[in-house]
Amino acid sequence: MARVFSGIQPSGDLHLGNFLGAVRNWVRVQDEHDAVYCIVDLHALTLRPDASELRAATLRLAQTLIAIGIDPEHSILFVQGHVPEHAELSWLMECTASFGELNRMTQFKDKSGRTDFISAGLFSYPALQAADILLYDTDLVPVGDDQRQHIELTRDIAERFNNRYGDTFVVPEHVIPPAGARVMDLQDPTAKMSKSEGEAPGTVWMLDDVGKIEKKFRRAITDSDGEVRYDPEAKPGVSNLLSILGAATDREPAAVAADYEQYGPLKSDAADAVISALEPIQKRFADLVADPAETERVLARGAERAREIASATNDRARAAVGLLPRSSSPRS
Ligand code: TYM
Repeated sequence: MARVFSGIQPSGDLHLGNFLGAVRNWVRVQDEHDAVYCIVDLHALTLRPDASELRAATLRLAQTLIAIGIDPEHSILFVQGHVPEHAELSWLMECTASFGELNRMTQFKDKSGRTDFISAGLFSYPALQAADILLYDTDLVPVGDDQRQHIELTRDIAERFNNRYGDTFVVPEHVIPPAGARVMDLQDPTAKMSKSEGEAPGTVWMLDDVGKIEKKFRRAITDSDGEVRYDPEAKPGVSNLLSILGAATDREPAAVAADYEQYGPLKSDAADAVISALEPIQKRFADLVADPAETERVLARGAERAREIASATNDRARAAVGLLPRSSSPRS
């Protein structure tokens, strides 16, 4: 069975973009693949979150992922910081990636422009992401469109490492969904929907109630020509609504457009489709929140299973670059 790996940051609650662009597809592929899903708490540290918020967000994210349908009996669900091989292999990745490559990452340019303290970790972030993926001999990485460049860099790093030191890593491929890969902000459809913008009216959160979701779609920015047509360049707001409705109902956005003559019904149908996808998830989430110890047990078991795979790959990489095996270090 092909191995699937993906990750998500515990930097606040999930939004509709995370769901349609990534996590929904994690659920869809888990039965036919050997799936490993990771909550990347070490990546979240690059932007200095408050410690107690990070702890709470990590557990809530695990509960949200299980509520969406990740089955931890079958798939491996774990927290990155529980498996020390991620941080360790990250160093080998930093020594394999070049400064120029990391400097070309558009996410670094975006994020460094929005913070006054630019940590070195924010710069080397994609090296840790490469370690995440390569530790699990990953074939496929289901992500939204904004991660494309990071996965391409992971491939380049894997190939360079294999050329330098001999075949060590599987070279992975990204899987980007045909609809929903780039969900845009409902108030600013030229910017992608994102977690880091605070209480934004253009972001639909997974845990928003029905009233909020309806209001956000009703107020979504469109344009003044009144024509329902899928054209992301000329009509970003309308096209975003068509993409969301298309992704939520598994149809092509351009085909969805043919059903509508006015913006009002398109907005309310998009809201309804999102509500019917989210309501059952919100119910399951409420049950899981009532028993945090159960989720903690799931994560502990996930980390054990992840570590079995990760430690073998990490040992292989350490040996390949010439680090002495740990068993030969002097005994204390
Ligand atoms: P993160 O936490 O920002 O996002 C998690 C996933 O959600 C997707 N996504 C979107 N998809 C569509 N429209 C949007 N507006 C939108 N916003 C986010 C992202 O593409 C992603 O798939 N660096 C990664 C986390 C990571 C990772 C990994 C991913 C760390 N290690 C290894 C894959 C493999 C990130 O910050 O995702």
